[in-house]
Amino acid sequence: MPTNPLVDRQVPATLPLLQQGELLIVTARCTLSAPSVAALNELLSDTDRARISRLLRSIDRTRAALARIVARVTLGQWLGLRPSLVSIALTEAGKPLAPDGYAVSWSHSGDHVFVAFARGRSIGVDVEEARRLEDLAELARTAFSPNEVTHLLELPPTARQVAFFRLWVRKEALGKAIGVGLLEPERLGFNLLPDTEPITVVDPIDGRTWWTSALPCPAEAYAAVAVDVAPAAMHLRNWEALRL
Ligand SMILES: CC(C)(COP(=O)(O)OP(=O)(O)OC[C@H]1O[C@@H](n2cnc3c(N)ncnc32)[C@H](O)[C@@H]1OP(=O)(O)O)[C@@H](O)C(=O)NCCC(=O)NCCS
Repeated sequence: MPTNPLVDRQVPATLPLLQQGELLIVTARCTLSAPSVAALNELLSDTDRARISRLLRSIDRTRAALARIVARVTLGQWLGLRPSLVSIALTEAGKPLAPDGYAVSWSHSGDHVFVAFARGRSIGVDVEEARRLEDLAELARTAFSPNEVTHLLELPPTARQVAFFRLWVRKEALGKAIGVGLLEPERLGFNLLPDTEPITVVDPIDGRTWWTSALPCPAEAYAAVAVDVAPAAMHLRNWEALRL
């Protein structure tokens, strides 16, 4: 993807302090075995453990735990709190709310985990593992606007799969930043193009503006972030590189 001048990808030994107007995106891979994640259980809250225990598949439990561990350890470091004591509430629709003016959002797909942080902003992040979608047109009609569907279906099949995921992660990131997820597609009536450039879009319902950008990702995945004000800088960090 093209170089985004906002993105600083230098790998640090420690976590940067997050300034107002900056974003931090931490990526992790679920290379941890289930027992290793279980050993990190003390970093989670009772609510986290209850939510995770309801998940049926081991991979779902592992990545849900890893996302929360990344969120809690990072916020805990900034707030000077033990990770398990960071209070992360949920809206009725399921959007996580971090304390003290911080904002957090996470996403997991395949073995990819992305966790995004901001201060004084609403933020949403989404990652999707690339896979062949036989029901692409049907899925697109459930989640995308008529213009987006038309644009997508005019593309040749291979380009259509790529465009689908680029659009999908932008929509989900916007849906999470707004707090509605993708379950109310009519609430997300933006007309987006499936590109990777940072763009500002206007919510046709309430006139609020949102900034969204694709995120650098391994070849087998797509990711995007959305936030209500264009960031001054975006820091990307790999969890394994952070010696916390
Ligand atoms: C929120 C939503 C977008 C979740 O998307 P998802 O791709 O299933 O899952 P992700 O891993 O990206 O994100 C999950 C996280 O989103 C967050 N989330 C849930 N509801 C949210 C909301 N209303 N607003 C903001 N964030 C929300 C939670 O932190 C959740 O974490 P958890 O599952 O560990 O509790 C969901 O509302 C939705 O609409 N899902 C439909 C997904 C779908 O059909 N995908 C097919 C892809 S081709």
